[in-house]
Amino acid sequence: IFSLPKENGWLASYLYKYQGFWHPVRHLQGIITCQRHFDARDSDVFLITTPKSGTTWLKAILFTLMNRMQYPIAEDHLVLNKNPHDLVPFLEHRLYVDNQIPDLSSMNTTRLFATHIPFFSLPKSVQDSGCKVVYLCRNPKDTFVSLWQFTNKLRPQGVGTNSLGETFDKFCTGVSIAGPFWDHVLDYWKESKEKPRKVLFLKYEDMKEHANVNLRRIAEFLGRPFSNEEEESGMVEGILKLCSFDTLSNLKINSTGKLSSGEENKAFFRQGKVGDWKNHLPIEMAQKLDQITEQKFSGSGLVL
Ligand code: A3P
Repeated sequence: IFSLPKENGWLASYLYKYQGFWHPVRHLQGIITCQRHFDARDSDVFLITTPKSGTTWLKAILFTLMNRMQYPIAEDHLVLNKNPHDLVPFLEHRLYVDNQIPDLSSMNTTRLFATHIPFFSLPKSVQDSGCKVVYLCRNPKDTFVSLWQFTNKLRPQGVGTNSLGETFDKFCTGVSIAGPFWDHVLDYWKESKEKPRKVLFLKYEDMKEHANVNLRRIAEFLGRPFSNEEEESGMVEGILKLCSFDTLSNLKINSTGKLSSGEENKAFFRQGKVGDWKNHLPIEMAQKLDQITEQKFSGSGLVL
């Protein structure tokens, strides 16, 4: 485990390299504890993402989709009363924190977890079991802008902001939460090609453009397709509306509340748009990200 010197900025100073990827120390401890103790079941579902690719959105969607019998879409739905991060826990920085081993026995039969853990650092039982992985990523320009804004919002009190240039240089060299971004995405892309029944690979942009189609794909992939009655009742549209940026970001719980882990809920809702990078990134930076993406994904068939 290597650490960057403190003068590299507060975010970098808290990132450690482990098995080829950079993690804040709190996440890293969680990853190691998970690797040692987490036991996946065939029925488990994992939402795996690169940070800032729409995890909050997909958490709400998966939770609503998977629990639609128990919690029908209604005005008192749990998603309208709790932030998605309090409904779908992150393995490495919610459940397995501070070297603790959580008791997961009380979770219901189909357990839904989220994580940013890179593919080769997943607990072995996740790779070996019949569990399902829904992977979500986003184009690196919007991901980077979203991440830069987010980490500045969450910086500890009294610590200066990370400049765009400094954060950009680090991101390009792979130093970002769960970075290198490109390696994270590529490893799951390859796995989704090799094991399409285990890993469903989604892009934020595609979710935005074809939300209905993708929601049906997710439901099929998880073995819970929408029945004719559900289709006729408008269930697909209902779930998407319930989990939309407008609905979630305007909820009182998400504009004023805090997660049980302390972060402000509103930090997870900013613009929710494709292409907002144009308002923040100088053209040279955008071109550099495009170049790296082309180079890294060359020959893989993946385009972001
Ligand atoms: P922006 O910063 O570009 O607005 P994550 O959930 O992985 O942390 O990602 C956060 C990004 O997803 C933010 O992007 C946020 O605004 C966006 N987001 C949050 N909820 C969303 C929703 N319901 N629909 C679409 N985007 C959403």
